[in-house]
Amino acid sequence: MRTQVAIIGSGPAGLLLGALLAKAGVETVILERKSRDYVLGRIRAGVLEQGTVDLLARAGVEARLHREGLVHEGFFMGFANRRLRIDLTELTGGRHVTVYGQTEVTRDLMDARDAAGLTTIYEAEDVAIHDFDRDSPCVTFVEDGVSHRLDCDFIAGCDGFHGICRASVPSGAIQLFEKVYPFGWLGVLADVPPCSHELIYANHARGFALCSMRSPTRSRYYVQVPADEDVGAWSDQRFWDELRLRLDPEAADRVVTGPSIEKSIAPLRSFVAEPLRFGRLFLAGDAAHIVPPTGAKGLNLAAGDAHYLAEALAEFYRDRSDAGIRAYSERALARIWKSERFSWSLTMLLHRFDTMSPFEQRMQEADFRYVESSRAAQTAIAENYVGLPL
Ligand code: FAD
Ligand code: DHB
Repeated sequence: MRTQVAIIGSGPAGLLLGALLAKAGVETVILERKSRDYVLGRIRAGVLEQGTVDLLARAGVEARLHREGLVHEGFFMGFANRRLRIDLTELTGGRHVTVYGQTEVTRDLMDARDAAGLTTIYEAEDVAIHDFDRDSPCVTFVEDGVSHRLDCDFIAGCDGFHGICRASVPSGAIQLFEKVYPFGWLGVLADVPPCSHELIYANHARGFALCSMRSPTRSRYYVQVPADEDVGAWSDQRFWDELRLRLDPEAADRVVTGPSIEKSIAPLRSFVAEPLRFGRLFLAGDAAHIVPPTGAKGLNLAAGDAHYLAEALAEFYRDRSDAGIRAYSERALARIWKSERFSWSLTMLLHRFDTMSPFEQRMQEADFRYVESSRAAQTAIAENYVGLPL
């Protein structure tokens, strides 16, 4: 088998890269370790920046997103039972975000890929990448017990944090930056109307809580839990009781409870790999970086990488120029570090840390009061939340 760009991983980064390259006339094959249904069953992010929506439109998959996505012009930050609205649209000169689940983005991209007759190999086992430091790299894998070899010009490592692409780079050639937080988010999805028409990010003495949604009849809620928490220890009732305790009285009263459809714990981590290009191998999305979910940047950053990489590769095939390829890492990292900073700062502002000294606790309170009183501080949060320019 032969293709121009072998893409490892069919998450948002790999699928969007494949769609943008198809628009530029570049051939791709996607190799995915899991089944299509497994990938679609993972409940993850829910908030899309306007830039991400624009990229999905460029990839030709905006119809359902425009029909079903919920436009949000603001969100709330809660602190000690007070609530502050960040007016995204007013503070950013008319911008907004769109609430539309990662599952739906993935499904739209998969459907478009199938309709265009482009190749995705699901349940590819033992995927390994070779010779990316030479001119003719290749990927080997096993499908239905049969070994295959895919020759290509480039390999896009879009295989997430635990993938094989980053792990295949010699340790001396890559630098890793990491911060692991001592807590996770316990998330629940339920077919109940959301308690608020806009998201609420709440800092409470019992820990952080987030009220989000997927539609007017489907809610997504999260509460901060210790990093080593067992999800089995959380009955639906315990979750709803804890959530209500962490919200201001008005929001707590409006929480409608019901059976959970999904319940899982995600660890919180900040992580960046540098650089993002190793000869003919590129890293994009969670393979290259992780942000804690506060601020909803993970999926949006993956989309940004896909955009930069698609432009670089399209330029290579169109103009026979490797300038874009050489610039990819630096260009993507400049934006990645800014999103890392925003996600980290919002995480530090909104969570409770067991290790916090009384001084640090006062600093957190002062930080919130400053945001409450300063249009400049609110504008800084708003412009990051709606997404920095691509
Ligand atoms: P992924 O979506 O991880 O896709 C990588 C793909 O590569 C996967 O399909 C995987 O199966 C495949 N793969 C892995 N190894 C191999 C291999 N060896 N061979 C072939 N394929 C392979 N972000 C938010 O903004 N808000 C959230 O609430 C939120 N919650 C999250 C919860 C969890 C549990 C996780 C893990 C992430 C969450 N994120 C969240 C982050 C967001 O979902 C990611 O940033 C986004 O999925 C990144 O897309 P990606 O395509 O880079 O990686
Ligand atoms: C959701 C997740 C986030 O990390 C976030 O900041 C906002 C919303 C969600 O899953 O809906």
